[in-house]
Amino acid sequence: MLQAVGLRKTYGEFVALHGLDLEVRAGELFCLLGANGAGKTTTIQLFLGFVEPTAGRALIGGLDVATHALETKRLLAYIPENVMLYPQLSGLENLRYFQTLASAESLSEAALVALLERAGLSSAVVHRRVESYSKGMRQKVGIAMAMAKNARVLLLDEPTSGLDPKASNEFSALLEALKVEGVAILMATHDIFRSKEVGTHIGIMKHGQLVARLSADDVSHTDLERVYLQHMHD
Ligand SMILES: Nc1ncnc2c1ncn2[C@@H]1O[C@H](COP(=O)(O)OP(=O)(O)O)[C@@H](O)[C@H]1O
Ligand SMILES: [Mg+2]
Repeated sequence: MLQAVGLRKTYGEFVALHGLDLEVRAGELFCLLGANGAGKTTTIQLFLGFVEPTAGRALIGGLDVATHALETKRLLAYIPENVMLYPQLSGLENLRYFQTLASAESLSEAALVALLERAGLSSAVVHRRVESYSKGMRQKVGIAMAMAKNARVLLLDEPTSGLDPKASNEFSALLEALKVEGVAILMATHDIFRSKEVGTHIGIMKHGQLVARLSADDVSHTDLERVYLQHMHD
């Protein structure tokens, strides 16, 4: 569903991403770990088409993001560290607004509330203004937007940074549900523990290169942390 082929990004002399080859299939969740500045956000922004590649290709559903901007955007949803919502509108109104933008047909209020509930927001809360929402609740609205769009690809950039363990755990459960539905997920994160828990594949990025690829099933928490720290020291 999501594929990078020799994907490269330079800023002048500086190489932010060195020819990345990566594939995330339907139902897989690839976690990108790495220190700040490693190239995680650059990778995600290349898939979003926010940044143009210097070389190589970013493909979504087999389509090149550079030449099929609209088609590829229809397939994907993006959740950054802070989901951008209108603070004066309720969770439901925000979802309705974005859903109308993203799709030709608008969903009924009952359908929108059901999506918010599936994303973990109680029906009492969905009518409250978003300015009163916690960060975890805003992330849930982001997940509801992805569901409303029936996104086949989900790009997440440090979505759980700053969430408390309970909110982070709830967020992981939502990702698990999306995986089961066959969504292909790429997530940049610093959370080694949850990478192992929710990820199917884990990549460690350093100075714009994937220096390690691991299967989440084949590695223990301790080993994953050891491998990560080893790469950070080298
Ligand atoms: N527009 C830009 N101009 C110059 N350098 C950039 C630009 N965007 C990102 N970089 C650099 O690319 C590197 C990778 O950044 P980024 O992808 O944001 O890393 P990460 O998300 O892993 O922290 C960093 O060294 C960053 O300073
Ligand atoms: Mg980043």
